[in-house]
Amino acid sequence: MAATEFEDVKGFLPMEEAEKLRQWATLGAQVGPLLEIGSYCGLSTLHLADVAREANTVVFAVDHHRGSEEHQVGEFFHDDALTDDQGDFDSLPEFRRNLKRYQAEDVVIPLVALSTTVARHWTTPLGFLFIDGGHSLDAALADYRGWSSHLLRDGLLVIHDVFANAAKGGQAPHAIWQLAKQSGLFEEVGSFQSLRALKRL
Ligand SMILES: C[S@@+](CC[C@H](N)C(=O)[O-])C[C@H]1O[C@@H](n2cnc3c(N)ncnc32)[C@H](O)[C@@H]1O
Repeated sequence: MAATEFEDVKGFLPMEEAEKLRQWATLGAQVGPLLEIGSYCGLSTLHLADVAREANTVVFAVDHHRGSEEHQVGEFFHDDALTDDQGDFDSLPEFRRNLKRYQAEDVVIPLVALSTTVARHWTTPLGFLFIDGGHSLDAALADYRGWSSHLLRDGLLVIHDVFANAAKGGQAPHAIWQLAKQSGLFEEVGSFQSLRALKRL
């Protein structure tokens, strides 16, 4: 399925980045299952689902679906269509609708929970880890620290929304990218727009 076919799915992954994500995920999927933190309405998930199906593996999609800071009512990225019957942010119905519409329910395993809670109990080694969850420093650090140790050797870590210039975006994804590079545990694979990929040594 071509990347263009998900253009009607709400999300935060431009087409060119989606294509690069698919390329890196294809490499990771040779190593083990895929896991993403931050699914929102399923745009990145659907791209990863295509890759997973091709590689005969699965995508674990971790998101509490209550939105990040910027999605809350009154915030810049709030979408009135994504609220529950009490007016709180909720992307889960739209996420599930999109998985069904694009027949991805067979390869996507949604984990509707705080990423740190899932990480604490996680035991499955991964071939590909996509970090696109909360963008506060605490959230990004917790995701990096909680999840990067689950990557198998040669598995890929991809971080989204990495901007060196604070005027272009928050600095937390950039901070964890720096941490990963300095850890001695990864080698750089590449950069594309706001995506950064590293390989677990
Ligand atoms: C930037 S959006 C993800 C965008 C998505 N990858 C796409 O392609 O459109 C971030 C998502 O992370 C989720 N999130 C934020 N902090 C989280 C946490 N601590 N645990 C689980 N999900 C979290 C939010 O609910 C939100 O849906």
